[in-house]
Amino acid sequence: MSELQEKNSPYVVGIDLGTSTSILAIYRKGRPEVIPISGERVTPSAVSYRADTAPLIGVQAKRRTLIDPENTVVSIKREIGNASYDRTVCGQKITPEAVSALILEHLKNGATEHVEGNARKAIITIPANFENNQRQATLEAGRLAGLEVLQLVEEPVAAAVAYGFGSERDQTILVYDLGGGTFDVCILKVDTQAGGQAKFRVLGKAGIPKLGGDDFDDAIMAILAAELVKAGGPDVLDLKKDQGVSKKKLRTACQTLKEKAEIAKIELTDAEKVAVDAPNLIKNENGQEFHLSCELTREQFNAAVKPLLEQSTECIRQALVEAKLTAEDIDRIILVGGSTRVPCVRTMVTEMFGKEPYGDIEPDTAVAQGAAIIGASLSEAAEKPPVNYITTTSHFLGIETVGRRFNEILPKNSDVPAENKKVYATTYDNMKEIRISIFQFPEKVEFIDLKVPGSACLGEFYLGPLREAPKGQVHVEVRFGIDQNGMLTVAAQELGAAGGGQAKQLEIRVS
Ligand SMILES: Nc1ncnc2c1ncn2[C@@H]1O[C@H](COP(=O)(O)OP(=O)(O)OP(=O)(O)O)[C@@H](O)[C@H]1O
Ligand SMILES: [Mg+2]
Repeated sequence: MSELQEKNSPYVVGIDLGTSTSILAIYRKGRPEVIPISGERVTPSAVSYRADTAPLIGVQAKRRTLIDPENTVVSIKREIGNASYDRTVCGQKITPEAVSALILEHLKNGATEHVEGNARKAIITIPANFENNQRQATLEAGRLAGLEVLQLVEEPVAAAVAYGFGSERDQTILVYDLGGGTFDVCILKVDTQAGGQAKFRVLGKAGIPKLGGDDFDDAIMAILAAELVKAGGPDVLDLKKDQGVSKKKLRTACQTLKEKAEIAKIELTDAEKVAVDAPNLIKNENGQEFHLSCELTREQFNAAVKPLLEQSTECIRQALVEAKLTAEDIDRIILVGGSTRVPCVRTMVTEMFGKEPYGDIEPDTAVAQGAAIIGASLSEAAEKPPVNYITTTSHFLGIETVGRRFNEILPKNSDVPAENKKVYATTYDNMKEIRISIFQFPEKVEFIDLKVPGSACLGEFYLGPLREAPKGQVHVEVRFGIDQNGMLTVAAQELGAAGGGQAKQLEIRVS
């Protein structure tokens, strides 16, 4: 171990653990700074396993997607938190957490020299719509990589912090984040307070866990595969039909098409049409070789991805409804994520809001930069950015009362950390115990109805034995507290009983 590795870095690093690419940044000398890892600002989120030696990570691993697709893992973020993920490479079973941990470790080790020591403390960003299991799995990946994750921060929030950091106006901003694998939209209010601190509040958010550049590539792949069929070749996307070609060959051809598709997509950002050539793409059992040579226009591409973009506009509408705002209330639109470079994405957003998105933000690095700013604001280091980062609860939280009614204890959009308590009385004589069932609802509801999307029963416990008394005379206090990481603690206690009465509590992670 080098001398530097033994010393802890004074920085809290911000890590954007992306589906396609990952970035590490720190806050130094009054600004966020992207740290080059092996000389590159952006590291492909790829891991390539090898039989008897350590896996390759990043650029070298990405290069092996074509040479050794079976042992090379990409887009693992799409699987994080998936308990039934089942893949064996080089004879060993891998988990999404372990793969993600290798990427994190690669960034961490690659940063040592630049961050003046072992980067131990980190902020990791996650899509806004990550479920609990995905959050837990990301924390686990951080732990496996030897990181102390101070907080998981939602990607659009981090991007907004990076944007709002230099801004001195109060404003409502909408972050449209279309990366490689996930889509998030988030509406935030930035308040510039006295003392130059900026306070960020999330008003509404929505997203699609599996929508991104990977799907754009798939849409192009489908066009290319159809072209190959037209040229008399096999359908490389059909692994079920007997086409006289081995599955392995079909898969390799598929991988080539996927690469060609991504290149064509990126070229179409600047060009109106591109040529796609894949000589000797696949050979059938008679030794006949098939080549792909076709032209792809931006118009064709736009038509292919239109349904995907429509899904994203639906999310924008949902987020606006949640924020109780209309498109006119948005002061600034920020595009984040590599896929927002696609011209029709920009056009769609411009048309929807009647104004151009803000151009002065780097779509690829904003998330990591925001995470670095938040990291510095939470660190003990002397250099603090002028940011007061506040998150809010995304649901109404409460318990069930008589008649399956929902009784709210913490309202939606409460500043986190938050705390509140309520007192409940027994509802019949000599009631022996009381059931505390904890629920979340995205909207105000009178009755418990788990058919409401986004609603959930978060947990349940019984408090008892209570002292015997006529109904209404025994009181139980229920206290809800939610901390910075979204951990909800529910505590219940019988009031006024000799010796303090029964008390119980439950800890639940909420997002
Ligand atoms: N010039 C471009 N034109 C079109 N697409 C592009 C361009 N540059 C990058 N992309 C696409 O952007 C995607 C990667 O974006 P980004 O690095 O922001 O994603 P990510 O952070 O890894 O993913 P996520 O945020 O979804 O986890 C890839 O699908 C890539 O093909
Ligand atoms: Mg991203």
